[in-house]
Amino acid sequence: MKFDKKYDILIIGGLGHVGLPLGIAFANKGLKVCLYDIDKDKADQVSRGEMPFIEYGADPILKKVIGNELTVSTEMEEVAFAKHVVVAIGTPVDEYLSPKLRGFFSLFEKFANYLDESQTIIIRSTVYPKVCEQLEKFLLKKGLAINIAYCPERIIQGYSIKELNELPQIVAGLNQVAEKKAIDLFSTLSPKIIPTKMGEAELIKLFANAWRYISFAISNQFYMIATMHGENYDSIRKALMDGYGRAANIPGAGFTAGPCLLKDTMQLASFTANTFQLGHAAMMVNEGLPDFIVTQLRFTHDLSKVTVGILGMAFKADIDDTRDSLSFRLRKSLMFQNAKVVCSDYIVNDPNFISKELLVEQSDIIIIGVPHSDYKGIQFPMNKVVIDLWGISKLVVPSSVTFNS
Ligand SMILES: NC(=O)c1ccc[n+]([C@@H]2O[C@H](COP(=O)([O-])OP(=O)(O)OC[C@H]3O[C@@H](n4cnc5c(N)ncnc54)[C@H](O)[C@@H]3O)[C@@H](O)[C@H]2O)c1
Repeated sequence: MKFDKKYDILIIGGLGHVGLPLGIAFANKGLKVCLYDIDKDKADQVSRGEMPFIEYGADPILKKVIGNELTVSTEMEEVAFAKHVVVAIGTPVDEYLSPKLRGFFSLFEKFANYLDESQTIIIRSTVYPKVCEQLEKFLLKKGLAINIAYCPERIIQGYSIKELNELPQIVAGLNQVAEKKAIDLFSTLSPKIIPTKMGEAELIKLFANAWRYISFAISNQFYMIATMHGENYDSIRKALMDGYGRAANIPGAGFTAGPCLLKDTMQLASFTANTFQLGHAAMMVNEGLPDFIVTQLRFTHDLSKVTVGILGMAFKADIDDTRDSLSFRLRKSLMFQNAKVVCSDYIVNDPNFISKELLVEQSDIIIIGVPHSDYKGIQFPMNKVVIDLWGISKLVVPSSVTFNS
């Protein structure tokens, strides 16, 4: 052991949407946690006990643990003092939708001098299959035989604090020591540990997100079919599910966005040498939904003569995160047709957005971009054209009929 271990855990990317709630949850169990991140603004904010984004239930725990069990650092040397090094940085895809791995390995290039063989590296980021093995070889070349485990995160963003204590944890190690160390660590948090082989764990995480992504695409495609035939998908779906258990899980239509579902479906597509036809089909449907709406509107409106309001810009309901939100893609498509576009979101802080009331007043056409709680049951004036994919408003005119009116 090169250095004394004053932390039980150091989380690299510790101030992100995955790293921060995880660190708070471990600290709340009494473990000594250091959140390492390169984002100095977030580091200052979290050190003051303030959450940089919405994570329900996190604020009071952060205030309790910060400066006690939980510390924040922007100094990479701190990694040397941790028993477990958890990696929670972003793992994006590139412009060809292939995994972008350079950032992940350059991280270890920088950290190698501060690691030693008494530590366990736990990958929490969603990784492309075989990355953990590649990392093991990469470190071995640097003379470091370090135990590596993969413990994928499966929480739903915004609700980690609750779910980290409820969801079973998939754990895979590249050797038995790594597996045992990861099991011991996550047993402090998770109600159930599910040990798997490494290849299984990598696919479990990608299958979980691809499954969700494809199931939303099915509904979005049904929505398009119903709309093109002048029918209301929401009514169809409710009647279809009524007393019919075999279709009980069919999701509602809506923008399927955010930094994970598409990205992980594309990682799986890349892993299968682009033979994952269902994944690509789901991408065409989900990413095509904003353009579908614009195309439908063009049948009935000269978009250069109307104001369109997008109500809800976050990538999903009741959070303040706009990463890969399809509301922005919709805005771009509308502007391409020379429409005047106004946007509103009462959770997302953006000086260019206007209030809900002003948006309703100014817009000829209103499109609900995300079903925030505040918009549920919202009733719009009769003279507005409303597109409500989600079926959350009290519509006087159903959405699909609106397209044809
Ligand atoms: N957001 C989710 O709901 C969710 C759920 C499950 C899994 N995941 C996966 O978790 C991983 C992280 O996602 P996220 O949403 O938390 O991303 P994020 O962008 O919110 O957080 C990443 C953090 O890493 C930091 N960072 C980047 N490079 C760094 C470096 N070199 N050293 C230290 N810190 C660095 C960033 O400043 C940021 O705070 C991804 O692999 C993602 O696919 C995310």
